[in-house]
Amino acid sequence: EKGTYPYYMLKEVDEQPAVMRKISQAYLSQQGDCQIDEALLKEMSSSDRIYIIACGTSSHAGWVGKKIIETLANIPVEIHLSSEFGYNMPLLSEKPFFLFLSQSGETADSRQVLVKINELTYPSLTITNVAGSTLSREATYTLLLHAGPEIAVASTKAYTAQIAVLAVLAKALGQQKNRLVAKEFNLVHELGLIATSMESVISEKELIQQLVTAYLTDTRNAFYIGRGVDYYVSMEAALKLKEISYIQAEGFAAGELKHGTIALIEEGTPVLGIITDEITGSHTRGNLKEVESRGAHTLVIASEGLARPTDQLILPNVHPLLSALLSVVPTQLIAYYATLQRGYDVDKPRNLAKSVTVE
Ligand code: F6R
Repeated sequence: EKGTYPYYMLKEVDEQPAVMRKISQAYLSQQGDCQIDEALLKEMSSSDRIYIIACGTSSHAGWVGKKIIETLANIPVEIHLSSEFGYNMPLLSEKPFFLFLSQSGETADSRQVLVKINELTYPSLTITNVAGSTLSREATYTLLLHAGPEIAVASTKAYTAQIAVLAVLAKALGQQKNRLVAKEFNLVHELGLIATSMESVISEKELIQQLVTAYLTDTRNAFYIGRGVDYYVSMEAALKLKEISYIQAEGFAAGELKHGTIALIEEGTPVLGIITDEITGSHTRGNLKEVESRGAHTLVIASEGLARPTDQLILPNVHPLLSALLSVVPTQLIAYYATLQRGYDVDKPRNLAKSVTVE
C-alpha cells in the first residue's frame, strides 16, 4: 500500500535505507561472515569468468557489480543484455558461470538465455526480488533481494538492492579465495553508512525539486555524464529520467562526448555530471567545462570529498566501491520531480509494463 505517498515510486525511493539494512541483516553477521550457500561460492569462485545477463535497470546494476566482483573476488565479469546474448552468443570461456539479474524473475528475454544455458548444462545463479519466480526456479541457485514488492514501473529500490547483494556476493567470493581486500572490506559498516547517507540525500527533496525546476523545465533532452562507476550510474539516471518524464536523456562516458555527441549541445542543454570517483573526477570536471563553453547548463552531483563550492548537490562520502548506491538516489528523485512537473503518471509511464514477459 502506498499510504500517504502520492506515488509508489516515491515510497520505494524512501524505502532504500531500510532495504540496505535488511540486506545487511539477511546476509551478514556482525563479524563480517557472509551467509551464502557454500556450494554456490565454491562453484562460482572456481569459474574463470562470470557472465551477467540482464535487461534495462538490472543490467546497469550489473555494471556496478562487475566493478565490485572484479575488485574483491578477482574474477573477470562480462555484462550482456539478455536480448542480445540470446541470438548473438559470445565466445565463452572454459568455465563460465551465469548470473541472472532480474527484479521480477519473469523477464522473457532473460529466461530465453537461461533455457539455453541449462541446455548447455552451465551453472547459474538468479538474483531476484521474487521467490519462486521463473528465473529463480530454473537457475541452479537463487539469492533474494529482500527489497519488498516494487510496484512502480520505474525500478529504484531493486537497483540498489541488486548492487548491495552483489557486494555481499563479491565479498563472500573474495573471502572464499582468501583475498585480503575482501576480508578487510567491512560491509556491515559500509552498508550502514550507505543507509544513513541515503537518508540524508532523501531529506534534500526540496532542493532537488528546485534544481529540477531550474534545470529541466521545458527541456527536450538532457545528458548525464561520468566516468567509471559514475558512468554506470549515468546510464541508469538517464534511463530513469527518460522512461517516466519522456525527456530524451542519455548517459554518457564523460570522455566520449567529444567524439561526436557534443554536437548536440546547444545553449541551455542540461548536462548533469556525477563525480564520486577520486581518480576520474577532475577529468569529468574538464568535460563539464567543455560543454559549458558550448552553452550547456551544467549541474554537478559530487561526493563531499571531491566537491567544489559551486556544485549543486553534495553527497556524503561513502566507500568508493559502493558510491553508486548513494549517487543514484538524487537521480531517482530528479526523474520523479521532472515527471511530476510535467504532469505525467509517475508510476505508470506510457508503453511500459512492470515485467516484460514478451520477447
Ligand atoms: C526500468 C526498469 C526496466 C527493468 C527491466 C528488467 O526502470 O524497470 O528496465 O529493469 O525490464 O526487469 P527485471 O529486472 O524484472 O528483469
